[in-house]
Amino acid sequence: MKTYNTIANLQDCLNNYKRDGKSMGFVPTMGALHKGHISLIEQCNANNDISVCSIFVNPTQFNNSADLDQYPRTIEQDLIMLEKANCDIVFIPQTETMYSDESEEIAFNFGSLELVMEGKDRPGHFQGVGTIVKKLFEIIKPNNAYFGKKDYQQLLIIKDLRDQYNLSPQIIGCEIVRENDGLAMSSRNMRLTAPQREQAPYIRQIMLWAKDNKANYSPDELIAEVEKRINSNPLMEIGYFEISEANTLAKCQQWRQGIKYIAFIVVAMGDIRLIDNIELF
Ligand code: PAJ
Repeated sequence: MKTYNTIANLQDCLNNYKRDGKSMGFVPTMGALHKGHISLIEQCNANNDISVCSIFVNPTQFNNSADLDQYPRTIEQDLIMLEKANCDIVFIPQTETMYSDESEEIAFNFGSLELVMEGKDRPGHFQGVGTIVKKLFEIIKPNNAYFGKKDYQQLLIIKDLRDQYNLSPQIIGCEIVRENDGLAMSSRNMRLTAPQREQAPYIRQIMLWAKDNKANYSPDELIAEVEKRINSNPLMEIGYFEISEANTLAKCQQWRQGIKYIAFIVVAMGDIRLIDNIELF
């Protein structure tokens, strides 16, 4: 496994592979890797000759500086996991490398995709995600890029970014990897206290309950019921529970046949935001 922290050295290496006609898959991450990230690397390995992973805690997508400071950084452990997973190339740039003085600032327009949920709760978040992912795609020019459905709204935004700027990769959405107790894996889970960690699988249980019981409720009633159940847990506070159309994230007003709906949730446990979603239909 080769690691690079400058764009020039990375591109020298990538160009050699590209000259040999190798296909290239890319997995962008912010590190603190877990099996969810590794599942993206595995899918990337299966479908490409060369796998590239980036590790970069992107400051522009954090709307809260405490969250940025507290974001876990476990680079040595990350590199061991990537090596074991047969990742070929890791790009670990410094902030100044990705945000040099000359780098232009683009105001992205992701339309209604960015006005709901994470976009609404975390102003500027998807502008920051768009900025860094566009830069990374332009540096690496992969054939394929892999994103988790755990951050489903991000996946739709990246597909839109790709289309708007004619960027190189095909975007592939990968299934959510969970702990045995159902909690969606997240770099943030390692910050949960023992009692919080014990309660956290309740989020998944409520999501499964919502899926199983949706026929008995209107969308708004289901939302109210889930909010009530989450808030009845003393360690949890609901951020949002929303039911939206899978392709547009348009809010579901009433159940309509033939439409794919996804339920999205954010729960605060102390200062940690846990995010998850489930396909309802
Ligand atoms: P990060 O949170 O590190 O996640 C990197 C990728 O791993 C994302 O595509 C995310 O959806 C995926 N992922 C995280 N947990 C997962 C799980 N339990 N199962 C499956 N996939 C999972 O998302 C980001 O970083 C950043 O916004 C980034 C795209 C790197 C831009 O900075």
